[in-house]
Amino acid sequence: MHRVNLAENIYYVGFNDRKTHLFENIWPIPKGVSYNSYLIVDEKIALIDTVERSYIDDYLDQIEVLTEGRPVDYLIINHMEPDHSGALKAVISKYPNITLVGNKKTFEMAQNFYQVTQQNIEVYDDSELSLGKTNLQFTTIPMVHWPETMVTFESTNKILFTGDACGSYGTLDGGIFDDELDYTQYDEEIVRYFSNIVGKYCAHTQRALKKIAKYEIKMIAATHGMIWRSHIDFILDKYEKLSTYQTEPGAVIVYGSMYGNTAKMAEIIARQLAVRGIKNIRVYDSSKTHPSFIISDIFKYKALILGSAAYNNAMFPTVETLLTTIKHMGIKDHLLGIFGSFSWNGGGVKNLEKFAEEIKWEVVGQPLEEKGAMKPDHFSRYVDLANAIADKILA
Ligand code: FEO
Repeated sequence: MHRVNLAENIYYVGFNDRKTHLFENIWPIPKGVSYNSYLIVDEKIALIDTVERSYIDDYLDQIEVLTEGRPVDYLIINHMEPDHSGALKAVISKYPNITLVGNKKTFEMAQNFYQVTQQNIEVYDDSELSLGKTNLQFTTIPMVHWPETMVTFESTNKILFTGDACGSYGTLDGGIFDDELDYTQYDEEIVRYFSNIVGKYCAHTQRALKKIAKYEIKMIAATHGMIWRSHIDFILDKYEKLSTYQTEPGAVIVYGSMYGNTAKMAEIIARQLAVRGIKNIRVYDSSKTHPSFIISDIFKYKALILGSAAYNNAMFPTVETLLTTIKHMGIKDHLLGIFGSFSWNGGGVKNLEKFAEEIKWEVVGQPLEEKGAMKPDHFSRYVDLANAIADKILA
């Protein structure tokens, strides 16, 4: 195996998952994902997080080689979600004298998930742990992504181990550090990972960014995706923008349409936005595209224009699923346009209006609704809606 050094005595021990279709059994990962763990070999030996359970055998084998058979003294648990704690019990079985390092919530979760009552060291903000010449400092970052999450700072090489924060979907196809690959090609997967996994916790992410500002960071080692050492500002700026809902000029148009009538309205709106000079326009059929991808673009662009046919006197089901996800994510500060169609009793636009009341975004123009197909003399209504939204985007 290749030895991948972050520093002379600090190793990457990670695995690429190209088999799993749905991360957390919800989010599509067509480009896979990596599970990153790290090993520090000093007078004492420490692991930082583990990996998903499918990789236990290879994980333990690699640790055995890197430690040259010495026992691991500490398992530092930055995050307890099972994609990182999956090897916890196996590590304890192999190294029965290991000490777990985490905070109060970490150990509650270890008990709840794995019935683990291993000896432990409870840490707080600014607690330190010496491994010999290596000194580690801890800072809690609750809800990025779970209540127990924390970061670990290695002060000699100034490496910040961040758990899920600054992570990404996408396997590491040879390159592991940001300067060994074209990091810009991961941009979509970074945003999608943030929006899907961390996006609900933007206020917490802001607090976390402020807390870690005390560190002089030379490297960011997350539990997913590349290790950042040459483009640290890129990933920190990305997190700052996303967690403060800073958007680019652009619009996402999503529709649910059985026979194409609502889809035609979406096409008119999209075309008129383009006529007005909006270049970032994404049009999605909610029955085809998973909310994972749509949510990601909603985080990126200022306007969301929603169309729904009525279905059983309610909203179109796949639009409803998307809106439930948006509400759960608590996305803020967007422009909203509404349109749709019905055959006899409505339910699409009516429920989109309820969504608008709940989400409290700025509704632009009047909601537009057709009985059956769009009438030719209504064309200008959709052009007007697109113009009103373009005016706001370009303002
Ligand atoms: Fe990658 Fe929240 O676990």
